[in-house]
Amino acid sequence: MNPAPAVQLTGVSKSYALPDAEPIQVLSGVDFTIESGEKASLIGPSGTGKSTLLALIAGLLEPDSGIVEIDGTPLTSRSEHERAGVRARTIGIALQSDNLIPFLSARENVELALGFGGEVARRRAPAAARELLEQFGVGHRADHLPRHLSGGEAQRVALAVATANHPAVLLADEVVGQLDAETAEHVIDTVLAVDVAVLYVTHDAALADRVSTRYEITDHQVRLR
Ligand SMILES: Nc1ncnc2c1ncn2[C@@H]1O[C@H](COP(=O)(O)OP(=O)(O)O)[C@@H](O)[C@H]1O
Ligand SMILES: [Mg+2]
Repeated sequence: MNPAPAVQLTGVSKSYALPDAEPIQVLSGVDFTIESGEKASLIGPSGTGKSTLLALIAGLLEPDSGIVEIDGTPLTSRSEHERAGVRARTIGIALQSDNLIPFLSARENVELALGFGGEVARRRAPAAARELLEQFGVGHRADHLPRHLSGGEAQRVALAVATANHPAVLLADEVVGQLDAETAEHVIDTVLAVDVAVLYVTHDAALADRVSTRYEITDHQVRLR
């Protein structure tokens, strides 16, 4: 039997309500699938709904209508609490603004993400965390607090955190924007080498084209390009 798709959106629409104006329609009847282990990029002008799409997939936002399923499990019509549980188990997310815990070192941030896997995993966590940081080229920053990292280093630590728990899908929202071209390429290639489905957002066509499944958002729809 084929594994369930990592991500499946069926007829998903999302608008934002505004106090004194018509709501902003961002996505309209989107059908979108990422197969288990598939790597895909998403590009498009600012304001087209890329971050909204990722937030819907992550269950951070609820669609107005339609169904979001992750790894065969519907997120829609679950409580906030249940969605948080599914998110912790199956989704790795690295956002534009990094989401590190400010009073933990880079290594401890990754360890915390690894720590959900039981006692053995916990004992191995410091070494495993350091390895992951090294893969993303920030092993030398393992003992630093997030505020002592450059923007680009913090983004790479956030990616190590997001991949730590072996999610069904890794979502990355413009996480290499603060890196030089060569480092950005290396970081994206590291993300793509992880054995999970990946959807990454970038402004950079060359980076988007490092995978063969390429999406863009136009006219409120997610389309192959
Ligand atoms: N919380 C919000 N309230 C109202 N409008 C929003 C909100 N978040 C995003 N938007 C609007 O939705 C549209 C899509 O935003 P976003 O998903 O952030 O686009 P992108 O990531 O492609 O730049 C934009 O017009 C943006 O202004
Ligand atoms: Mg965005």
